[in-house]
Amino acid sequence: MSKLFTSSKVGPYELSHRVVMAPLTRMRSDPGNIPNELMVKYYTQRASKIGLIISEATPVSIRGYGYAGAPGIYSDTQIAGWQRVTDAVHSEGGRIFQQLWHVGRQSHVDLQPHGDAPVAPSAIAAEGYAYTKRGEASFSVPRALELDEIPAIIEEFRSSAERSLRAGFDGVEIHGANGYLPDQFLQDGTNKRTDEYGGPIENRARFLLEVTQAAISVWGPDRVGVRISPSSTYGSMSDSDPRATFGYVATELDRLGIAYLHVVEPRIKGTEDVAHDETAIGAQHLRKRFSRTLIAAGGFTPASAEAAVTFGDADLVAFGRHFIANPDLPERIRRELPLTRYDRSTFYGGDARGYTDYPPAEAAVAA
Ligand code: FNR
Repeated sequence: MSKLFTSSKVGPYELSHRVVMAPLTRMRSDPGNIPNELMVKYYTQRASKIGLIISEATPVSIRGYGYAGAPGIYSDTQIAGWQRVTDAVHSEGGRIFQQLWHVGRQSHVDLQPHGDAPVAPSAIAAEGYAYTKRGEASFSVPRALELDEIPAIIEEFRSSAERSLRAGFDGVEIHGANGYLPDQFLQDGTNKRTDEYGGPIENRARFLLEVTQAAISVWGPDRVGVRISPSSTYGSMSDSDPRATFGYVATELDRLGIAYLHVVEPRIKGTEDVAHDETAIGAQHLRKRFSRTLIAAGGFTPASAEAAVTFGDADLVAFGRHFIANPDLPERIRRELPLTRYDRSTFYGGDARGYTDYPPAEAAVAA
């Protein structure tokens, strides 16, 4: 008997299996960063009966951009496009949460209004590349946010959460992982502030917790999730004491009563597999700190996902890359069918190729 295919709950929602679609940036929206029909098709293909999808990361403001072509939720004109996506997922019997995103320093002046510097807790650049309309470009040096600018960013998360509600989503997930803005505040390698948002962990966690509370003010706690990546160095991240930092974060998020904590496992750095130290922090380590649903993500195979839920390391397992190439992934895992390989060259941007042309199992087996 497979534990992955037993029922579970996320907030108020019953799920019929434990295979979640991880948030996946694919950069295929229309000008204006509006979700289009191609995206509706993509999500429809990946919806499963009473299964959970986390949407691709969606910027809460123009300043929150690091990837051209990512669909946004910062303006009312984007709501109707998302409504078509959520309607389509619901008509397949699925659930979908929207991931809310602000990249902070992982951006480039070309993506910012008036060519401004991206914003961050401190003026320290990340190594790596932003995806501009002209291709990849090294991250720009950010500008440190003034203390009095921070409430407006929290308000961007709140008003975006409200648009998510109007667009028919089932909940929202705060993107607190992968070295984006909330993570930049959390970890002391990127946060050198001396005000109430910097210094001790109680201060560094303030931004993430306030953003989460802003989402809760719209949705209630049981339809809000938070994603974190305690051991990832993606986006040049580092912390002098990740165990204390993320232990505190998990405890405080538990206190807020959120629906789930979504943890990226140490074997993943952003979108790639990496070797890791066995003591690095993953879902299993935060189990004691968080009492509700725990989702683990990163480098899972059907077998390791089954083991994780059987041993109780996590309640649900999110798959990213396998979901790109296997639109009917839960069904394939349930029937123990072979998985199609993904093509990394079509992950970001482009058209239907490598996006909506991966066949479902029957067609793949027949081919
Ligand atoms: C990602 N990942 C990711 N994570 C996130 O929180 N928000 C996002 O928008 C994205 N976008 C994204 C795009 C692409 C093309 C990839 C491959 C990955 C990370 C993803 O959710 C997941 O954590 C990793 O892919 C590891 O899981 P898998 O792929 O090993 O199952």
